[in-house]
Amino acid sequence: MNMAFKQETFRDDYTYHNSAEAIRRFPFPFAEDEYMYSVNIEQHNGGEPGSVFEHAIDVDEHYVAECEDRRIVLEDDPNRYIALPHMMDAQWDMVELVMESLSRDYPDLFQLTRDGDNWHWINQPLGIDQKFVFGDEATLPMQPCEYITRQVQGDWIILDQRDDDLFADLGMVTSQADWSMAFDAGMSFKEWHGPVPQANELGIFDRALKYLLHLQYGSPVRRLNWTMTINPRLDTSPENYPFWGPDNVSVTPDNVGDKVHLRVELQALFRLPRSNAIAFSVRGYLASINDLTTYPRWAKRLHRVLTNLHPDLSEYKGLDNYRQMVIDHLAPMDDGEELALGTQPE
Ligand code: HEM
Repeated sequence: MNMAFKQETFRDDYTYHNSAEAIRRFPFPFAEDEYMYSVNIEQHNGGEPGSVFEHAIDVDEHYVAECEDRRIVLEDDPNRYIALPHMMDAQWDMVELVMESLSRDYPDLFQLTRDGDNWHWINQPLGIDQKFVFGDEATLPMQPCEYITRQVQGDWIILDQRDDDLFADLGMVTSQADWSMAFDAGMSFKEWHGPVPQANELGIFDRALKYLLHLQYGSPVRRLNWTMTINPRLDTSPENYPFWGPDNVSVTPDNVGDKVHLRVELQALFRLPRSNAIAFSVRGYLASINDLTTYPRWAKRLHRVLTNLHPDLSEYKGLDNYRQMVIDHLAPMDDGEELALGTQPE
């Protein structure tokens, strides 16, 4: 992966763009011509070299810019990081998970030296050099989980496990697709999934919860989720709806390829060793329709998935204002050829 970090924005002038390599490794989520929710959970123990699944935590060309966007969101609204008091062990678990993963998988960029509880962390892309005592909050400039999640892409929700359920009791959420951590804090698995159509009736949440309660340390799992976003905006939160909601009616047949982005979430779940909590990471990847249609196979597949999409899912994901325009834009690129199963670009 190309590690020349981009200087780019996810707001205002929207200078975000993908290199050809980033498009190629985009986690396109549609293996078939139809999409419906399922318990699409698989092992997260490495993937093809260069793919977004290769490492436990993927770092790509957007790393520095995404950390900066998070800083801007937090400056405006510090409550996008939430920590209930009983989650301090989980906070340190997070420090360990992220520092160990990044320094193991990207040794040229991140280095961690451990001497008992005396840790030394170097994050070269962000220019951070920090010595601290593991377990001693006073030796870091802010709470441990806030500290480390400011240095990693994607949102992180840490679930406390009790009473055979999971509770969203700790989290850094600055780039979510229209849901609120402040609203969901303290809620259980089924409660925060309440607004999702169709899935409960299919038994998906019952089975997913049962599976997750038995998640083992050292055996993380992952799934993909997707939606669409107008402009490459990371912060599509309910809190800031006035800043992005009106964009949904700004799509025209002329700008649809540029403005409409497929937003894919790589969601990974890690059991944490001290707290027995589960870290849930939601790493978003954005690709415009123009990016995706550089691969004819993806253009055809997306055309069919959007055409066949259940109206409840379209409405829930907020696509109703522009879905038909995307379909019309893609239609001339779809010759009806049968596509084999699989998400590959070619
Ligand atoms: C345990 C960690 C998880 C957390 C914290 C979480 C959280 C959420 C949240 C906050 C939403 C948005 C709900 C809203 O509209 O307000 C959501 C949507 C959803 N979640 Fe989860 N989730 C988790 C795991 C899972 C798992 C394991 C599945 C497995 C099937 C799943 C399936 C879904 C589906 C299908 C949606 C609808 C997404 C869409 O259409 O865009 N979630 N989740």
